[in-house]
Amino acid sequence: MIAAILKENIQGETRVAATPKTVKELIDNGLQLRVQSGAGESSFHSDQAYKDAGGEITPDVSSTLSGANIVLKVSPLTLDEVDALDEGSIYVSLLQTTKEIALVKRLTEKKVTGFSMHLIPRTTLAQSMDALSSQANIAGYKSVLVGAAHLAVYMPLLMTAAGTIPPAKVLIIGAGVAGLQAIATANRLGAQVEAFDVRPEVKEQVESLGAKFVEIESQDKEGVGDGGYAKETSDDYKKQQELKIKERTAKSDLVITTALIPGKPAPVLINKDMVENMKRGSVIIDLASENGGNCELTQKDKVVNHNGIIIDGTSNFPATMQVHASQLYARNVSSFVNYMIKEGELKLDLEDEIIAGAMFTHKGEITHQQTNELATNT
Ligand code: NAI
Repeated sequence: MIAAILKENIQGETRVAATPKTVKELIDNGLQLRVQSGAGESSFHSDQAYKDAGGEITPDVSSTLSGANIVLKVSPLTLDEVDALDEGSIYVSLLQTTKEIALVKRLTEKKVTGFSMHLIPRTTLAQSMDALSSQANIAGYKSVLVGAAHLAVYMPLLMTAAGTIPPAKVLIIGAGVAGLQAIATANRLGAQVEAFDVRPEVKEQVESLGAKFVEIESQDKEGVGDGGYAKETSDDYKKQQELKIKERTAKSDLVITTALIPGKPAPVLINKDMVENMKRGSVIIDLASENGGNCELTQKDKVVNHNGIIIDGTSNFPATMQVHASQLYARNVSSFVNYMIKEGELKLDLEDEIIAGAMFTHKGEITHQQTNELATNT
């Protein structure tokens, strides 16, 4: 079995799907590894390091993919790359299948078995493969540092001879993996942190990290959907939430939004009116910008200054910490690939919850239901 690591080709994508360490592990598990020259360059892994780990360095896409059984990537394959794939091969990357319908269709035409690291079930057994968590953790951490850098005020309380500086007020909207890490990081920097989420069960986690949980009346189970993820809330709840967010954002120096609903555009939680109600000099970091943003004024991958309020729409914070982001993502991918290897052979057990859960195309069919429905209607 030959596994291929492609060089990422989306602008700003600095991560790589395998490090020399995981290449060695995959080889030890019975695979042959090919690495496209320069694949690790942006995350500071040289071709020589991959060679030393036992990989074969290939000069371009076609020589990397020709004859490969399994292809590992961070960003989605381009359609040209799909053309260079062998029919029936296996492909693993971090893609939102519901947003990549053209690619999904092309993969089915090529009878490629596609796996998305986005679809790995959030179970205890699959924890080492959970790329959403490993990357969201980084986004949560870095968003606070970038937010603090945009701010014109200190984060911690300071008592100086020239006067007392109060701590910055930080509001985190969405207390999932990214939000909880943002709370912990802002807290460590000395800010006064509060957080809000539609799932009431996160209250305890928020409080255990030293932040205040912003409550909304009638919250009980309102926003809790399948698999512990959020679901869309009622109109009445949305109205109450709007009032609360308007009140809290007006008092905040830094707002970090992370609210996502799987398979849907991100809910717009901060409208233009709320932004205009905020203090000049305050900052919004919108971690949901990839999915449309939680703030009405967010522009993906742009930093906007709206009447003195900075709105940062950076969509790929993990790529700004590519050494650790690659280390963790590569480990997630190698755990998943190694999980599928039994006695030196890659075995696709379609009854297995993790394998079937992460799969979105197989033998010319779209196996992920929501993606299939969208593909049928597109
Ligand atoms: P996510 O990235 O899908 O969403 C981020 C947060 O936004 C969530 O906490 C969600 O409740 C919140 N949200 C959605 N709509 C909102 C709204 N209108 N207002 C305020 N907040 C809103 O979530 P993530 O971080 O991927 O985690 C999803 C779930 O998976 C959580 O229950 C988490 O605890 C669970 N999980 C389980 C793991 C395991 O058991 N191995 C590992 C990681 C996460």
